[in-house]
Amino acid sequence: MAPSSRSSRPVGRPTRGTTGTNRLRRIDRWVTGPAAGLLRSADDPLVVDLGYGASATTTVEAAARLRRVRPDVEVVGLEIDPGRVALARAALARLPAGAAAGVRFELGGFELGAPAVLAGRRPVLVRAANVLRQYPVEEVAGAWALVAGRLAPGGLLVDATCDEVGRRVAWLVVGDDGAPRSLVLSLRLAGLERPGAVAERLPKALIERNVPGEPVHAYLAAMDAAWARQAPLAVFGARQRFAAACAEVAAQGWPVRGRPARWRLGEVAVDAGAVGL
Ligand SMILES: C[S@@+](CC[C@H](N)C(=O)[O-])C[C@H]1O[C@@H](n2cnc3c(N)ncnc32)[C@H](O)[C@@H]1O
Repeated sequence: MAPSSRSSRPVGRPTRGTTGTNRLRRIDRWVTGPAAGLLRSADDPLVVDLGYGASATTTVEAAARLRRVRPDVEVVGLEIDPGRVALARAALARLPAGAAAGVRFELGGFELGAPAVLAGRRPVLVRAANVLRQYPVEEVAGAWALVAGRLAPGGLLVDATCDEVGRRVAWLVVGDDGAPRSLVLSLRLAGLERPGAVAERLPKALIERNVPGEPVHAYLAAMDAAWARQAPLAVFGARQRFAAACAEVAAQGWPVRGRPARWRLGEVAVDAGAVGL
């Protein structure tokens, strides 16, 4: 990864800009759910959506959802592709004032923009969805460190990957020290064949490690086996079945986090150390 000092060139490079309406809703639901305390208690409720892609959509959606938790939240969409910044600004200008409130779009990379962009402020949360998946794995830790160095104390980076429509989502929660804290899986349960179906959407730091003998592989295998054993609960619905599978995996000793209420949403977190990070 390139320089850690503030330079005028954004750190990183443009990649495919695929995005979509509502694609990142499951991440927003986590931010406004288990992670809501971060926003509520922030002295400066600044959030960065890093690499928002070919349209302004997911950034504007995130702002609308986050405002329900923290009405004065400011969401800055950062893109390394200047053409996408221009497009997003034009789209923002066409929105009703209420939808555009507290949102702006700026040029920037993993350094979080030129000094004037955040003007010395430190975001409490940075979301980078479907960004690092397009980088070589060797660059991931450096990108985390660069972003983490710009976070507010206690702030978090969400390094997320998902399918085109946001039904299978996985993200690593990285702390302000640049170290991963947890892996969160969030799956649409209707029609789910098995939790391990998320494998092809694991964040870059894990996807290449998902082979027999590696902890992340063992974790997904444990989830799949528990899901299979809980098949009799399918009669009560996939939510009950998934929650029971999470409880079973926790009982096996996996440091699974969250409460049954989150598990029933198809969302489960595990300590990053348990999956080999
Ligand atoms: C696949 S799109 C993701 C869009 C949106 N976040 C989503 O998940 O739907 C990835 C975007 O990240 C941008 N990107 C790649 N590296 C970046 C970096 N270092 N800083 C900012 N944006 C970056 C690319 O230009 C691209 O538009």
